[in-house]
Amino acid sequence: MELIVVENPQEGAKVGFNIINDVMKANEINVLGLATGSTPVEMYKLISESDLDFSDVVSINLDEYIGIGKDHDQSYDYFMRKNLFEAKPFKANYLPDGLETDEAKECDRYNQLIEDNPIDLQILGIGGNGHIGFNEPGASFDSLTEKVALAPSTIEANARFFETKDDVPKFAYSMGIKSIMSAKKIVLFAYGEGKQDAIKGLFEGEITEDLPASALRNHPNVTVVVDKAAAGKLSL
Ligand code: GLP
Repeated sequence: MELIVVENPQEGAKVGFNIINDVMKANEINVLGLATGSTPVEMYKLISESDLDFSDVVSINLDEYIGIGKDHDQSYDYFMRKNLFEAKPFKANYLPDGLETDEAKECDRYNQLIEDNPIDLQILGIGGNGHIGFNEPGASFDSLTEKVALAPSTIEANARFFETKDDVPKFAYSMGIKSIMSAKKIVLFAYGEGKQDAIKGLFEGEITEDLPASALRNHPNVTVVVDKAAAGKLSL
């Protein structure tokens, strides 16, 4: 894995933008895998303000909360529209449907979408516990899209976006680790002290299902962009 340490999240957003800009200008992107969370917001802003044209590109998002619909302001569908898609129209935007109650049907649909649209570049954030997408510690490295339970620490971390902790959905549909690993290139971003342990584990710990992101060490083309705070525990 390539490691890029930047001063702060703003610098990280620029690095991320440049990576996307380069592959877009080289016409290497048909399918872009996207992430939500606070981490990529600034990069999405730079993309929104750029001259990049995504009208021939398909986007596939990692995950969606179960039980809230597209128009709920905390749904990932809403997040993506507000932070990127309204400014940059794509050929198609795919996210799991958080209101689909037929779990098997929704997971099959999403897995088929990923198979039909192989991801060229996948953007990732990381949870403080090392989750990627919503693949919490213990998730199988062989997993495809599944209904997953959020870890208590994830519910805690995401409570800041909801009125109360009880409003945070307890389940999500998430691309699995194997789905994420099928992307040709992966760029993971992590900012802030809260990500220090996950980043240390990612580079210096064991490759283990206890740290879902550690699967990325088995991928041939991964870049990790961290700010100094997130890199704080690395023995550089
Ligand atoms: C969320 C998302 C992840 C995201 C992570 C970190 O729960 N499911 O895709 O990478 O947690 O979020 P943040 O970027 O806000 O720290």
